[in-house]
Formats: sequence, structure tokens, C-alpha cells
Amino acid sequence: MKKWMQFLILFGSVSAAGTLLASGGGEGDGGRALPPVSNARWKAECSSCHMAYHPGLLPERSWRRIMAGLDRHFGENAALDAPTAADIEQFLVANSADRQPARRSQRILQSIPPGAAPLRISETPYFRAKHDEISPATFKRKSIGSPANCSACHQGAEKGDFSERLVKIPR
Ligand code: HEC
Ligand code: HEC
Repeated sequence: MKKWMQFLILFGSVSAAGTLLASGGGEGDGGRALPPVSNARWKAECSSCHMAYHPGLLPERSWRRIMAGLDRHFGENAALDAPTAADIEQFLVANSADRQPARRSQRILQSIPPGAAPLRISETPYFRAKHDEISPATFKRKSIGSPANCSACHQGAEKGDFSERLVKIPR
């Protein structure tokens, strides 16, 4: 085969692979986006200090631990009356990563050791792996504050869409 022909074939297959990769990552969040979920009390009570984190971002055992410790919630008292707490807990559990077929939830779940029930999404091995190129100084910027402030960088966070095309790290 002539050199230039080899080059053309090689070039052709490389760009074809490039196209495949590009469409794999860019399409709507291709099967990874978390489905829209809602609950009036959850919206009202769990989004006053931070965004309401989609229940599909943590396993059932984590949500149960979080709901059991609301009076000592990351240095805040977020305690609720019993019926409100029970309603929210039921909603979180029903839509938790264990019951969420979305690929994103399954990946988070698989990254957590069976015995562990992390209280933070931002401390799961999945989260760490996906954000290992972001420095602690970046997370501490005034415009961001901490890794828990998902919506500072993910424009689709409130909707459960964490696709790359909706990421913009603020200055
Ligand atoms: C009084 C304020 C307040 C309320 C109300 C509140 N939280 Fe929080 N929550 C916090 C603070 C503060 C943090 C830590 C944020 C940080 O690290 O920047 C936090 C963090 C979290 C995190 C961990 C985020 C991460 O991955 O690092 C989860 C999950 C969470 N809250 C769930 C809830 C749920 C569920 C409710 C409703 C039942 C709720 N929160 C209501 C103050 C609150
Ligand atoms: C400082 C900005 C920033 C914050 C805050 C942040 N992220 Fe990210 N996140 C990124 C960047 C940058 C990426 C990598 C984008 C890429 O290459 O897909 C990423 C990737 C991800 C991915 C993987 C996307 C994919 O398809 O591979 C998920 C899921 C995710 N973040 C969830 C979260 C959640 C949940 C929170 C809050 C608990 C959060 N992020 C907070 C910047 C941030």
C-alpha cells in the first residue's frame, strides 16, 4: 500500500472514532440524567440553605442517616416536625440511587462500599473521581464556597443534569 493511502485510512478511522466519542458524551446526558422528581415539602424544607439535592445522588442508607440527624446537620439545626420529616424521608428513599435506574445513580452507588453511608455526595468516591482536577482553592472561591455548591458550576444541577456541556466554573 502506498504511504499516502495508509495515511488517508488512518486519518479516516481516527476522525470517525472522534465523532463517535463526541456524540457519546454530548447527547442530552445520554441516559445519565436523573429523572425529574418533586415533593412539595422537600422543595420547601431542603432548598432554603442550599439547592435541593436530587435523591438519586445518594443511596437510601445515606438519606436515612441524614434525616435521622437533622438537628445536627453540618453545623446547622435543620430539624423538622415528625410528619414533615417522615414525608420527606419517604420521598428521598423512594427516589434514592438504589431505586434509580439512571446510569448516574448506579455509578454513584457502585462507588460506595456496601457498609458505608456517606452523608455527603461530595465525599463519595464517584464524586472525587469526577472532580479530581479541581483544586481545593477553586472550590473555596467566593463564587463557589464548597464542593457542596453543585449549582455554582453545573447549570443543570437543579434538574439533575450534570452533563459536561452545562458545566461552567465561575471566576
Ligand atoms: C438550616 C440550613 C439547612 C437546611 C434547612 C438543610 N440543610 Fe443540608 N446542608 C446545610 C449545610 C450548611 C451543609 C454543608 C454545606 C457545605 O459543605 O458547603 C449541608 C449539606 C447537605 C448535604 C451534603 C452536600 C454534599 O454533598 O456535600 C446533603 C445531602 C444535605 N445537606 C441534605 C439536606 C436535606 C435532605 C435537607 C432537608 C431535609 C437539608 N439538607 C436541609 C444546611 C442545611
Ligand atoms: C467547582 C465547580 C464544581 C462544583 C462545585 C461541582 N462540580 Fe461536578 N463537575 C465539575 C467539572 C469541571 C466536572 C467535569 C466536567 C466533565 O468533564 O464532564 C464535573 C463533573 C461532574 C459529574 C460527572 C459528569 C460526567 O458526565 O462525567 C457529576 C455527576 C457531577 N459533576 C456532579 C456534581 C455534584 C452532585 C456536585 C455537588 C454535590 C458537583 N458536581 C459540584 C465542576 C463542579
